[in-house]
Amino acid sequence: MMNSQIQNLQESYLQYLKENPFVGNPKNLYDPMNYILSLGGKRIRPLLSLIGNQSANGDIKSAMPIAHLVEVFHNFSLVHDDIMDRADVRRGQPTVHIKWDMPTAILSGDNLLVKTFKIWNQYNGPQKSEILNCYIQTAIDVCEGQQKDMDFAQMESAVTEDGYLDMIRQKTAVLLGAALKMGFLSAGGKAEHADTFYDFALQTGMSFQMMDDYLDSFGSESKTGKKQGGDILEGKNTWLKIKSLEIDSLRTQELFRIEGEQRITPVIEFWKESGLDNAIQKLAAIYHQNSLKDLKQLENWGYDISL
Ligand code: IPE
Ligand code: IPE
Ligand code: MG
Ligand code: MG
Ligand code: MG
Repeated sequence: MMNSQIQNLQESYLQYLKENPFVGNPKNLYDPMNYILSLGGKRIRPLLSLIGNQSANGDIKSAMPIAHLVEVFHNFSLVHDDIMDRADVRRGQPTVHIKWDMPTAILSGDNLLVKTFKIWNQYNGPQKSEILNCYIQTAIDVCEGQQKDMDFAQMESAVTEDGYLDMIRQKTAVLLGAALKMGFLSAGGKAEHADTFYDFALQTGMSFQMMDDYLDSFGSESKTGKKQGGDILEGKNTWLKIKSLEIDSLRTQELFRIEGEQRITPVIEFWKESGLDNAIQKLAAIYHQNSLKDLKQLENWGYDISL
């Protein structure tokens, strides 16, 4: 797929989004829903759905609700994630529970989730129930992954690398996999090819979350729109912390005993000294390489999804 085609798909989705705001009362329920969706973000998931659809020569117009349900679900997960992670800033703006309050963020998040089913119902293309099944399993995975993320941050004993990989697969990677697969299904795509679409975007999603974890510690707020060191402050057991404990358990524990914001800079310094900033990028690159095997297979079958 050419760059200009990707750009067209992105613009089509933005147009659809503009034409389909959430409408309803009370205002305090609907304003936050439109607020979070209006803050932008990269819109990667709806793009994946549209690419999946186009790679199998689908009808882009009929696929729009599928792209939209994925983006709305993603935004629901972010509203609740920011409560769970006590994050004040997202996409460079105050998070919903900060701009409004906690109950409003819980409920507007809930309503975003429920609206995804209404959006699904507006879909009139092929394999409607297969798409719903894929979506439901994905939403369950995300909840399980998010609970593991929270449990890991409270755990006394060290989290294993496999535990981390399993957690990020569920909380993040599966939604990218499902976005692409559901888009492919919306083009009437063959069941026997759908799982390779899923796996391609899943592997990409693994490296995506690793880069998100990298940027949380090493990227600036002006670049990410999120607080630098938020994961360190919350004691998240990312791959960085797991490896840090392996490299020097005492030092890592000592640094994480520092209370509050004071902890962030020394931890970042230690991780840079230890080369963990480069190491996590290398790991992300391995997952990217893995995804290329699936891409090759898809190309052999005649699909064009090169991003
Ligand atoms: C943030 O996702 C949550 C993760 C799964 C890492 P994105 O980085 O795609 O967020 P936006 O939508 O572009 O803001
Ligand atoms: C979020 O992971 C995954 C989901 C929202 C399901 P993070 O907590 O790392 O996402 P950010 O960094 O807040 O965007
Ligand atoms: Mg989180
Ligand atoms: Mg978060
Ligand atoms: Mg993050």
